[in-house]
Amino acid sequence: MSARLFQPQYLQAPRNFVVPQFEQPICLEIGAGMGRHAILFAEQHPEKTLVAIERTRAKFKVFAVRQQDHQLAHLYPVHADAIPWVVHALLPRSVEQLFLLYPNPEPKNPAQRWLNMPFFEFLLSRLQNNAQITLASNVPAYLDEAANQLQQMWKLPFVRQMIAQDSARTHFEVKYLARSEPCAELMITKPDGYHTRFDDYISPVAQR
Ligand SMILES: C[S@@+](CC[C@H](N)C(=O)[O-])C[C@H]1O[C@@H](n2cnc3c(N)ncnc32)[C@H](O)[C@@H]1O
Repeated sequence: MSARLFQPQYLQAPRNFVVPQFEQPICLEIGAGMGRHAILFAEQHPEKTLVAIERTRAKFKVFAVRQQDHQLAHLYPVHADAIPWVVHALLPRSVEQLFLLYPNPEPKNPAQRWLNMPFFEFLLSRLQNNAQITLASNVPAYLDEAANQLQQMWKLPFVRQMIAQDSARTHFEVKYLARSEPCAELMITKPDGYHTRFDDYISPVAQR
């Protein structure tokens, strides 16, 4: 586990936060960009609820407009920083699938990479047993470091695989594959019986 403990009790809910009303479990995408993956996934899995969070206003605007064209009943685009949103919106063991697709590699700020953050332990507590995380990147060193963190710190099983040349799940994936960059992903599983220090944490905001 992380040496530093995440402190959810000090995190305010995002501005204009409304406790979501959808039934959990859900699928969750963090850093959805302009929503290409979210819309494709929602079209292919109409039975699943997908919450797709994007922090950057301009990208979120494009996503929201595109989503209106598609009329997908179970897709919820959220404009927020995913960290406080997850803390205040989600119950423990409520996420069946998590997508982290081409996160910012944060070359100057390794502490901001998802698997280096104390928040990652909180995120794990929101996952159901046997939930899967897809972590994709075009930066091999990013995935090397994440793989090392999974083995040494998080003790989670994963499989590493290359992404097919004709894959086109996200805008960044399309761009990177067109440049022949080595896109790959870690498929991470949260096994039965995995514990975190947040397994019983429910935000007071979510309890209201
Ligand atoms: C490199 S882009 C990839 C976008 C998309 N997944 C794709 O592959 O086309 C990473 C995205 O993550 C978003 N992001 C980073 N940190 C975030 C956070 N804490 N909450 C929500 N979105 C975040 C950024 O705004 C950015 O749009």
